[in-house]
Amino acid sequence: PHIIALIVAAGSGSRAGGSTPKQFCKVKGQPMLRHSYAVFSNRPEIESVVLVIGAGQENQAQAAVEGLPAPLLVTGGATRRESVRNGLAAIAQMGGADYVLIHDAARPFLPEQVIDDLLNALLEAPGAVPALPMVDSIARGTDILTETVERENLWRIQTPQAFHFSAIHAAHLGWSGAEPTDDARMLMANGLEVHIVPGDDALTKMTFAKDFSGKDMITSMRSG
Ligand code: CTP
Ligand code: MG
Repeated sequence: PHIIALIVAAGSGSRAGGSTPKQFCKVKGQPMLRHSYAVFSNRPEIESVVLVIGAGQENQAQAAVEGLPAPLLVTGGATRRESVRNGLAAIAQMGGADYVLIHDAARPFLPEQVIDDLLNALLEAPGAVPALPMVDSIARGTDILTETVERENLWRIQTPQAFHFSAIHAAHLGWSGAEPTDDARMLMANGLEVHIVPGDDALTKMTFAKDFSGKDMITSMRSG
């Protein structure tokens, strides 16, 4: 199959704070987006990697992946959904693909096993996501808890999310619901199956400043 990876790195990192968007901040000595870009670039079955970045960030992005196969740069949008959609549109213009792996630059540590499992799952379903089971008790409420939610069959969904390209492209083009937090949900809205493969704690998304504060995680956080 013709397989393309799509990394979204066009966010502003507002919850992490600071002046440099988090995808360009150094994590374990390298700009965050370089980690997953390198993993995808080194996979022989992945033909190209599309990198979605903010307007005017071309030089910063080129520098971040210097020495690796050249990225296909696409300008993102105001929301994650729009950034993914722009990336999918660029892939469609290039002639499309059989499979696409959609990944957050904010999840730098990408295990090879997860990619293996996702690609295998696409032999049986149009979509597949890595997910981890809940370990804490789960309940609903505002100031007081009002409802217990059984954690059985509840999942924490990560990226990369893998899809048959035509199915996820159509789901994006037809989406009219509220802003979704991931792409699998858009496929499910079209009545298509999304399979679960084992997630990995390493794939946790770096969201808040504290996520960067681990001892040797970040070597040069924001200016100032
Ligand atoms: N993203 C994007 N385009 C956007 C918003 C987000 O490409 N308009 C990307 C981010 O760069 C990130 C991924 O989507 O790799 C997951 O988003 P998130 O963790 O929410 O990152 P940010 O939106 O940058 O952070 P925040 O929500 O705190 O502003
Ligand atoms: Mg965001």
